[in-house]
Amino acid sequence: MNDFVDKVGKAAVTMQNETIVVIDFGGQYNQLIARRVREENVYCVVIPYSKSLEEIKSYKPKGIIFTGGPNSVYDANAPMADKGVFELGVPILGICYGAQMMSYMLGGRVERAETREYGVMPVEACESLLFDGIDGKMDCLMSHTDKIVEIPNGFEVAAYTDSCPVAAFQNTEKMFFGVQFHPEVEHTAFGKQLIHNFLYKACRVCGDWTMADYAKNFIASAKEKIGDKKVLCALSGGVDSSVAAVLLSKAVGKQLTCIFVDHGLLRKNEGDEVEEIFRKQFDINLVRVNCEDRFLEKLSGVTDPEKKRKIIGEEFIRVFEEEAKKIGTVDFLVQGTIYPDVIESGTGDASVIKSHHNVGGLPDYVDFKEIIEPLRSLFKDEVRQLGTELGIPEYLVWRQPFPGPGLAVRCIGEITRDRLAILKDADAIFREEIANAGLDRKINQYFAVITDMRSVGVMGDERTYDYTIALRAVTTNDFMTGEWARIPFDVLDIVSRRIVNEVKHVNRIVYDITGKPPATIEWE
Ligand code: XMP
Repeated sequence: MNDFVDKVGKAAVTMQNETIVVIDFGGQYNQLIARRVREENVYCVVIPYSKSLEEIKSYKPKGIIFTGGPNSVYDANAPMADKGVFELGVPILGICYGAQMMSYMLGGRVERAETREYGVMPVEACESLLFDGIDGKMDCLMSHTDKIVEIPNGFEVAAYTDSCPVAAFQNTEKMFFGVQFHPEVEHTAFGKQLIHNFLYKACRVCGDWTMADYAKNFIASAKEKIGDKKVLCALSGGVDSSVAAVLLSKAVGKQLTCIFVDHGLLRKNEGDEVEEIFRKQFDINLVRVNCEDRFLEKLSGVTDPEKKRKIIGEEFIRVFEEEAKKIGTVDFLVQGTIYPDVIESGTGDASVIKSHHNVGGLPDYVDFKEIIEPLRSLFKDEVRQLGTELGIPEYLVWRQPFPGPGLAVRCIGEITRDRLAILKDADAIFREEIANAGLDRKINQYFAVITDMRSVGVMGDERTYDYTIALRAVTTNDFMTGEWARIPFDVLDIVSRRIVNEVKHVNRIVYDITGKPPATIEWE
């Protein structure tokens, strides 16, 4: 079923682009390494260390990076690279565990230190192409217990710190490098330049990975593969499905039909905005299904969050299925899977799968022959870049994540039309003021919640007994953990005043100051 993906992936992306293979040993920053490489306009794949040498060779790598990992090289089951990678004649950069393993495998000595070295340390660099163009103090993030005490024959020390005699080592003939610190993290100020140097000076890439080319190649391959067949896409208005839809529409025009299920639980004006962009701006064959009544009826009297999710998920699929049937058999179904969902962990765990997907479960229900996943090899920031490249408006490209069950999980207790209207208005004000304060790209997710609590207030000379709106805003990298956003009091003040003045039946605003954990981002 993924034949098309592979063909498009390999023909348009993997085979034509210079590729760096990132071999994953299970460290926490592994995806970050891949993103840093891509930011340098170089395509890379992340594969678990257990993959065969044959597979590594099949990418025709211009260079290889070994990631960090939690093990010690002396652990009984310590993950090791296939020895053959050192014979491929391509440059290698080992990071942290990757460096220790390289040293160990090539005859150096690694020792377990008494204490873990953790923190930002100044590094003294020797002559090395890795450090070209890096002036001044080289602060870098160290996070390791083992350390390299003897480097292999043919290598030289390239950097050191007070407590770490081999912070970096190299063999410039073979273009093998090892660094004990983490160049991929922001704390390592010169890390970006180091990765640039490895790619452009050691691997000698020219940098042929751009989203403009990606779009061009994908569109050409998709055109050829799809021919005159029919394509179906579930459009949610979120970043991934929007970019996927526009990409496919550029390839096959009106052979693509997008179904947009408007369940009435979207943010204020969102349904109309989606319609405006996709129907008018991109001239996409769009079926907007307005089914607010149907969803509200199903949700009537339901207060349990998991029940709400289940009802919405099932009803969504039913609506989609009904609409898809009207179109008849389609040949291809588009899915907005992105690369972080695809990468398998180097430690051999099951692949990471999003726990909640905005349009989850569709393939089981719709009659189609193949799946197309046009974003399968892209990170989220690349999807955004691609969206911009395709002319999708900024506000949509930079849209914060929005849960599939929509406002249903932000309407605590029973969902009624009136309470939804209050929530939509309050949320729109909050979002507007966050944007006015220039915080919309700094805070990763922010929204209003209507609580099921009412309390006493006073407006003019009148006693009120109205709803409390809670404001939620978080900063996070992965949405698995997060901090509550330190929004300036002045901004919160404006939001609070505006909501109570402009939205009827609200007389109290609270700001949620809990992190995740122990709270979750959503209230339900
Ligand atoms: P929590 O509330 O679990 O949220 O901290 C983490 C991220 O997931 C989103 N979220 C959902 N997304 N369906 C979705 O598509 C859901 O049922 C759902 N619940 C939470 C949430 O908005 C946040 O980005």
